[in-house]
Amino acid sequence: MRDVKRLERYCDLNPESALLDWGSGAGRLAIGVKEYFPSIRDYHGVDVQRTLIDWAQENLAGEGYRFTYVDVSNERYNPDGSLERTLSTDAHSVDVFYAYSVFSHMNVDDTAGYLELVGQTLTTMGKALVTCFVEEDVPEWDENPAGYGPLEWKGRLHCTRFSRQYFESLVQLGGLAVDRFEYGRETDGQSLYILRRR
Ligand SMILES: C[S@@+](CC[C@H](N)C(=O)[O-])C[C@H]1O[C@@H](n2cnc3c(N)ncnc32)[C@H](O)[C@@H]1O
Repeated sequence: MRDVKRLERYCDLNPESALLDWGSGAGRLAIGVKEYFPSIRDYHGVDVQRTLIDWAQENLAGEGYRFTYVDVSNERYNPDGSLERTLSTDAHSVDVFYAYSVFSHMNVDDTAGYLELVGQTLTTMGKALVTCFVEEDVPEWDENPAGYGPLEWKGRLHCTRFSRQYFESLVQLGGLAVDRFEYGRETDGQSLYILRRR
């Protein structure tokens, strides 16, 4: 519910919005959206884990709510998926883009490629809320950095950390600009970005 309110406040989420929940998992955000708004024009959850999408489709889909499984590669969650990236949306069709703890499990090429797709998929006034690990004075990208954060990172892409400058350069290259930045207050110490089209 906290995130629904933040999406309302920072990204103008409202019942007329087309909302893309990228890396939706089993639909955590959808539950909050359903509770907060009696109806929404389009909530679309997209994920590379078929079992989670199947569950969400069975238990949460309905008027205004849909879920799509995408068989694309992520070394942690779907290593055998296609290397062809997709957000499963049309260009300029998304008013509100949400990616919580998704760029925190992503390699550099995918991060750059998907940020570019976010830039292409947002409407003119569209906004994105994303979280990721960013720090000052660290390498541009690191996987499972030892001694960083509250957990012992295990397995591919458990924690991917960017230098703030590098992540924001990828944001720029994706045709996006930073509207808001909040350091380190999200899950496991991730930071929050609100992005808009440039
Ligand atoms: C840590 S979970 C976060 C789930 C959800 N956003 C939440 O906050 O509860 C990361 C999710 O991103 C999904 N994911 C990773 N790469 C993806 C991609 N390229 N396209 C869609 N989903 C992806 C994973 O399958 C996983 O469900």
